[in-house]
Amino acid sequence: VYEVHEIVVQKVGHVPLAKGDFTHLPKKVKIFLAHCVQLCKPRGIYICDGSAEEADEIIHKLLERGTLTRLTKYKNNYLCRTDPDDVARVESKTFITTANKYDSVPHVREGVKSALGCWMSPEDMKVELDHRFPGCMSGRMMYVIPFCMGPLGSPLSKIGVQVTDSNYVLLCMRVMTRVSPKVWELLGDDDFVKCIHSMGCPRPVQRRVKNHWPCNPEKVIIAHFPEERKIKSFGSGYGGNSLLGKKCFALRIASVIARDEGWMAEHMLIMSITTPKGKEYFVSAAFPSACGKTNLAMLNPSLPGFRIQCVGDDIAWMKFDEKGVLHGINPEAGFFGVAPGTNMKTNPNAVLSFQENSIFTNVGETADGGYFWEGLEDEVPPGIGITTWLGQPWHIGCPGKAAHPNSRFTCPASQCPIIHPKWEDPKGVPISAIIFGGRRPTGVPLVFEAKSWAHGVMIGACVKSEATAAAEFQGKTIMHDPMAMRPFMGYNFGHYLQHWLDLEKPDRKMPKIFHVNWFRLDNNGRFLWPGFGDNIRVLDWILRRVDGDASIAVDSPVGWIPKKGSIDLSGLGSINEDELFSLPHDYWLEDSRESRSFLKSQVGPDCPPIIYRLLEDQEAAFVKQ
Ligand code: GTP
Ligand code: MN
Ligand code: MN
Repeated sequence: VYEVHEIVVQKVGHVPLAKGDFTHLPKKVKIFLAHCVQLCKPRGIYICDGSAEEADEIIHKLLERGTLTRLTKYKNNYLCRTDPDDVARVESKTFITTANKYDSVPHVREGVKSALGCWMSPEDMKVELDHRFPGCMSGRMMYVIPFCMGPLGSPLSKIGVQVTDSNYVLLCMRVMTRVSPKVWELLGDDDFVKCIHSMGCPRPVQRRVKNHWPCNPEKVIIAHFPEERKIKSFGSGYGGNSLLGKKCFALRIASVIARDEGWMAEHMLIMSITTPKGKEYFVSAAFPSACGKTNLAMLNPSLPGFRIQCVGDDIAWMKFDEKGVLHGINPEAGFFGVAPGTNMKTNPNAVLSFQENSIFTNVGETADGGYFWEGLEDEVPPGIGITTWLGQPWHIGCPGKAAHPNSRFTCPASQCPIIHPKWEDPKGVPISAIIFGGRRPTGVPLVFEAKSWAHGVMIGACVKSEATAAAEFQGKTIMHDPMAMRPFMGYNFGHYLQHWLDLEKPDRKMPKIFHVNWFRLDNNGRFLWPGFGDNIRVLDWILRRVDGDASIAVDSPVGWIPKKGSIDLSGLGSINEDELFSLPHDYWLEDSRESRSFLKSQVGPDCPPIIYRLLEDQEAAFVKQ
């Protein structure tokens, strides 16, 4: 009879340990690593400690190899150009595997493909993975990353261990999560989320490597095993596919854990708003990818006297406390934001957050060693030479784009000038309102408010948006993105809606739910609303509603909408209020029917009946008009 660790040491014994101490790791971690080593056959094991020296070492290696270029204009900022075939999340290759299909996806109408998650059977998944993982790290280092989602030691936090053969991924994980040897102590004998990532490019390399970015786009697969709390990702180094703490763990796996444990894991920002009277509120907001979460979370208010502070820009974990108040934490430690459109006018706080210690992926580079993307035209020296994300010479005015539309900045949240002092509070912050939204060029007013919690859940279930560059979709079609979670659902969406409904209990203070749309267009295709810093005007209205001001809202079939003149438009110039708030009858009749038919075909019998009923009521109200 062997001690577990002796068996494990035997199994990994022939693989040299490049760094770290194997013997002191928790037992379950040793067993996990032994499995990874046997499967992936790396040339060495590197147990990360999260130290500054470690970052220096990794950056040095990446610079030497050419994966990173130093952006000399700043301190410790780097540019990375990926293989041009590895630039976004790959939703078509993202799967959930559970023994029972309907634990993962709803009963869709016969012949219809599920839009809310993709299930693969354990047997089929085994075949797929067996084609990919054995020996996938051959000739490469296996980095072992202990990380915590959420503040270390918070009761709301969760621990993961990721192995990866990409040191770029390690570098980004160090920014986006809390990587620390303390994780080993905190973990003890507990379970953790097991994350296995490989670029899928073992040595000797079979495929021509572009931009020193070995990957395997043809064979990308991102597999989730919620029952085993495990993620296996192969072939891509793009953030959403490879930084497994983020979408894979903090949304897909965590949504399942949250269901089991009675809390929420959501694609939401968390921000604080302090009014001119000095009262502070926290709100969370769920918008689909590339629809304005990062911008709203760091908003620079155009109304005097307001103060915004940021808690998180992409993911919220929220739980009702013993007093019935919903508390939220940001499980991440950094921002992985859309670069194009970000500038000192639209989001100065983001710009100030990435002046050092940041990584820019697939952006352009100016001749003076700065970053460049669409939206920075007024912030670089006129006529300056630029190299595009594809490495081509370019200058402002040339055809084409300098940065990939889904290019991203990765920077520590702690560097945000308006990061909230409580952003790492283990208890989280109290949430007063939840806001849904999307890119809706027509029909949908600037803001409206749900009549009840269940009505708010219905509104969330009907979130739609114009497609963006965050995933592989093309064109400007309007897509359903219920709860802004479509690409991130870890379990049956109908069960998820029921979980939301079940959160409402008499002794709980349910946040009010709202829907916003910054993207409505006029007949000439121009935005009706200036957006960005002026969104404070909408938040101001929302907070007055949170405080119960009945005089500023009027009833409508979609919910409460602002009474004319109740949103502060002072100093804005001409705003077409009527068009901005109109509820075109034919549009909404069609939209209500379309939403119901979407839910019927995609969620079918799994959708809670009350959601159908509320949609029918809405439709009936428009029929009557
Ligand atoms: P993910 O990080 O992918 O989840 O997206 P996100 O929701 O954080 O989106 P982000 O804040 O990065 O915004 C994406 C795009 O929307 C950027 O190009 C912004 O310039 C644009 N945008 C954000 N807020 C507004 C707004 O209020 N009005 C308009 N017109 N555009 C906006
Ligand atoms: Mn996101
Ligand atoms: Mn964002």
